[in-house]
Amino acid sequence: MAHRWKNDLTHDQVTPETLFWNRRQVMAGLGGTSLAGIAGAAQAETLEPNSWDEITSYNNFYEFGFDKSDPAKYAHKLTIDPWSITIDGMVDNPGDYALSDILSQMTLEERIYRFRCVETWAMVVPWNGFELADLLTLAGVQSDAKYVAFETVYRPEEMRGGRSSIDWPYREGLRLDEAMHPLTLMATGIYGKPMPKQNGAPIRLVVPWKYGFKSIKSIVRITLTDKEPPTTWNMLQPSEYGFYANVNPNVDHPRWSQSQERAIGGGLFAKRKPTLMYNGYDEVASLYQGMDLAENF
Ligand code: MTE
Repeated sequence: MAHRWKNDLTHDQVTPETLFWNRRQVMAGLGGTSLAGIAGAAQAETLEPNSWDEITSYNNFYEFGFDKSDPAKYAHKLTIDPWSITIDGMVDNPGDYALSDILSQMTLEERIYRFRCVETWAMVVPWNGFELADLLTLAGVQSDAKYVAFETVYRPEEMRGGRSSIDWPYREGLRLDEAMHPLTLMATGIYGKPMPKQNGAPIRLVVPWKYGFKSIKSIVRITLTDKEPPTTWNMLQPSEYGFYANVNPNVDHPRWSQSQERAIGGGLFAKRKPTLMYNGYDEVASLYQGMDLAENF
C-alpha cells in the first residue's frame, strides 16, 4: 500500500481535497500503476475521483426520502455516536461490538473504487475503510456458514423516509466468498474524512463489482447464515433486482439497458461510457465460474 490512514484520525491528519489532488498528481508522475493496484482494478487505468460535493449531494438513502437530494438535507438527524454492530448467527464470538473497539483493531486504508448504480449513473469514490474479511475473522466464522446478511439501523423518529412501503430495515446480503473477497470493504470515510451521514455514516459496505444497492449503509447488524438472506430490493421487485446484482453490460434491467453508464459530474450526455463487466474488477470472475449470470442476475 502506498499510503494508509491511521485509525485514530485527528483533524490535522485528515487529507483535505486539495492535498489529495496534489498527492494524486505525484502518484501519476510515478507511473500510475500503483493507483490501479490500490483500486484493485484489473485495468491499469487512472481513476479520477468525483468531487466531495458530487459524492455527498447525489445520494440514494431511501430512509431519508426518495430524491437524490433528500439524504444530504435530512440525514443530519441520524444519531451515530455511540454506534455498535451486532454480529450473530454462525460465528464463534457473537455479540454487540462497539464501533470504537472494532476500529481499534483494524487498519484503515484508502480504496479508490468505481461505484456503479443499477440506475446507470456512476462515480469514482476514494473510500477509507478496512476489509470486511478482517471483521469476519474477528467474529470467527463457523464452517457451515454460507452467507452474510446485513441490516441498516432503523429509527423512524430520525428517518423521515421511513413511512414508505419498504419493509424496513434495509437489508442486504453476500455469499460468504464474496464477503471474504479482499475488494469488499467496510467504509468509514471518504477523502480521509469521517463518512458523511448521507453516504451511510458511521460505517457501510462497499462492494465495487456489484450495483450500488448491495452497498448497504449505516450497518447495525451482521448475521452469518447458511441460507440466502432476504434483501430489500429483491423483496420489493424480484423480477428487476436479483441477489447477485453483479455489474454486467450483457444483462439488461427489464426496463432499461445496462450496456452504458453515465458519469456523475460529466453533464447529461458528456460522459456516457460502456459499462464494464464486474465494473472493471475482473479479479472476481472466478467467484462466478460456471454460473449462468442471466439466471443469477
Ligand atoms: N443503504 C440503505 N440503508 N438505504 C438505501 O436506500 N441505497 C443503496 C445503497 N445503500 C441505500 C443503501 C443504493 S440504491 C445505492 S446506489 C447506494 O447506497 C448509494 O450510495 P451513495 O449515496 O453513497 O452514492
